[in-house]
Amino acid sequence: MIEIAPDAAGLAGRAATRIVATARHAIAERGRCVMFLSGGNTPRATYARLATSEFAGQVDWSRVHFAFGDERCVAFHDPRNTFRMVYDVLTSRIGIPDANVHAIPVDRPPAEAALAYELTLRTLLGTTQPDLVLLGLGEDGHTASLFPGHAAIREQVRWVVAEEIAAQVTWRVTVTPLLFNTAREVVFLVSGASKADILRSVLEPPCDPDTLPAQAIRPISGRLDWLVDRAAAGRPSLPRA
Ligand code: 6PG
Repeated sequence: MIEIAPDAAGLAGRAATRIVATARHAIAERGRCVMFLSGGNTPRATYARLATSEFAGQVDWSRVHFAFGDERCVAFHDPRNTFRMVYDVLTSRIGIPDANVHAIPVDRPPAEAALAYELTLRTLLGTTQPDLVLLGLGEDGHTASLFPGHAAIREQVRWVVAEEIAAQVTWRVTVTPLLFNTAREVVFLVSGASKADILRSVLEPPCDPDTLPAQAIRPISGRLDWLVDRAAAGRPSLPRA
């Protein structure tokens, strides 16, 4: 399903509403909610809305686990660190137990961090499915840290891998589609006119995940939704997924 909000603030409100609804449902049905968070600029406003009493007061955060879909291999105090961004705008404000926030360990070499995080996720999830995966969309079609042409897009064994992003001269650790696609719900958040062309390409055929990694996200049995703002939707109106 594609839902179009009038603007970025509207998108944040709808995304926060969706997160609360999913968390409450998962907790009622299964006793907890495991949610993967994305980084970048777009979700920051959503996390900030979620931290307000209007939204945060509706969720028993002791039953929510936050994991991360990817992380930049930079120190916690670096503004590019996603865990840090999420800490600043969300987790430090809602009283969630520290043990429920599963950071990607950037204090070691990327390959070791990926292995350690895979173990963390396998322990956290066991044979259960992630309840919600939040993802963003880059202007080159990347999502999480699955970049065009990278092997991680087609990974068949590992849930988490390290990727060297040459264009950004940096390493990242990313969850692979193998795990993302087991989620009960995947929601992409896309905002801004600069995303209009790539959003259209990702939603329309042909399907070529090696070129447009976001197309590798196809939940096996879960639902896939796109929450976008009017600027990203562009015009004429998007095809219905
Ligand atoms: C990250 C994410 C990345 C992001 C997209 C969109 O940057 O942490 O891994 O996949 O979701 O690049 O980012 P923006 O929301 O900043 O456009």
